[in-house]
Amino acid sequence: TDAHTTGPFIAAIDQGTTSSRCIVFDKDGRIVSVDQKEHEQIFPKPGWVEHNATEIWENVQEVVAGAIVKAGITAADVKAIGITNQRETTLLWDKNTGEPVHNALVWQDTRTDALCKELGRNVGQDRFRRETGLPLASYFAGPKVRWLLDNVEGLRERAERGDILFGTMDSWVIWNLTGGTDGGVHVTDVTNASRTLLMNLHEMRWDERILQSMEIPAAVLPEIRSSAEVYGNAKGGVLDGVPVASALGDQQAALFGQTCFSEGEAKSTYGTGTFMLMNTGETPVNSYNGLLTTVGYRIGDQKPAYALEGSIAVTGSLVQWMRDQMGLIKSAAEIETLASSVEDNGGAYFVPAFSGLFAPYWRSDARGVIAGLTRYVTKAHIARAVLEATAWQTREITDAMTKDSGVELTALKVDGGMTSNNLLMQTLADFLDAPVVRPMVAETTCLGAAYAAGLAVGFWPDTDALRANWRRAAEWTPRMDADTRDREYKSWLKAVERTMGWIE
Ligand code: G3P
Repeated sequence: TDAHTTGPFIAAIDQGTTSSRCIVFDKDGRIVSVDQKEHEQIFPKPGWVEHNATEIWENVQEVVAGAIVKAGITAADVKAIGITNQRETTLLWDKNTGEPVHNALVWQDTRTDALCKELGRNVGQDRFRRETGLPLASYFAGPKVRWLLDNVEGLRERAERGDILFGTMDSWVIWNLTGGTDGGVHVTDVTNASRTLLMNLHEMRWDERILQSMEIPAAVLPEIRSSAEVYGNAKGGVLDGVPVASALGDQQAALFGQTCFSEGEAKSTYGTGTFMLMNTGETPVNSYNGLLTTVGYRIGDQKPAYALEGSIAVTGSLVQWMRDQMGLIKSAAEIETLASSVEDNGGAYFVPAFSGLFAPYWRSDARGVIAGLTRYVTKAHIARAVLEATAWQTREITDAMTKDSGVELTALKVDGGMTSNNLLMQTLADFLDAPVVRPMVAETTCLGAAYAAGLAVGFWPDTDALRANWRRAAEWTPRMDADTRDREYKSWLKAVERTMGWIE
């Protein structure tokens, strides 16, 4: 807590994949206080990942109260609340009781891969891409809604009767925050809606033909709103009466927090997964190289900004897996020490296709491999291969971005938890052959949600005022020779091939 900071403030809630957090920001975009709480990761079967949404809502209330107490302020000091969230994670709940009908299906969950294959055969992969900007993949929310309607007994009838609400985590948090069963508003923002496979990207509305072909009743859907406007006021809790004034998927929020407001500006966020987004301005750019076309943000009734996105499912979660499932390290930070104890990967390559492969391949049938093993390889080499996996996957995405946009990468703006790993950041600069830069506030996701909420209530006048807050904190420059890089990249790509077609 910075005792010298005076209000008013903006509070941002980030409902993420592994934890929920609340950060209070001042007018300079500086962090005043933070509170955070992890929730359980539920793995019922291989490839299935669930969250308990009731636990998540309890955690959100707890961290909001925690951050407000730590800041030593009250609701009267907070001008607005901004929401950001793990995207695509899908929940259906009963609007009369507020009870979830099933655990939330997490974005990493692959149980809909057969359903996606079937939909692809019947309706055609391309129509979805044209209307929604997305390939048909188990990653997105629409097929998860369909799975729940098909598999939870009696749910379809209740949904058709109008008793059931669908939402990604933004909708769930906003509905509860604004009163829940007592008048909660059922909304989502354009960025979250653009991840459902159900929204027409050009018209920013639910696509009726797609809803029909996916057999999803319109009655369950939230209203699509902009990313920065007042949806309603908080009802009850420590922020009672404060306007809820923004919602952005976490990756779009990071784009906003990194102030990538101009065409061609891009950022890459290193969390559970890694997601690179490039602002492409007022027109959606089609990808011919395996990227997604998505909404970057929309401020009130202004024109939306679109983005190209390269999504990587597994980066930080691979380090967690090394810690929790393999027990090779005791803390996530230890991966750097272990990997630094050797000069190179010893010939080992680790492709963590745990949720299939996302960009640029979109192969739900892929599963993870470690390739190139010999008796020589130690756990330190594997640790190195773990970090290199994140860097190579980024390289594949920047290659695709360059091809789709025609913009050569001059530097990469990064943020997120993994950016505190120096070896990873150096490896990234080496593999990309471009400088990597990190801003002062690495919590760009919360910052972006706070910025959007602050704009909506006039706390900040315009995006130029936000840009003025961006400051460089660290930079890594490439040191690797071209021959080594090219040889290593080839080996990586060979290992990637070996993951595909594992699931028949
Ligand atoms: O699309 C999934 C993404 O929004 C999750 O982000 O930071 O929770 O890994 P994160």
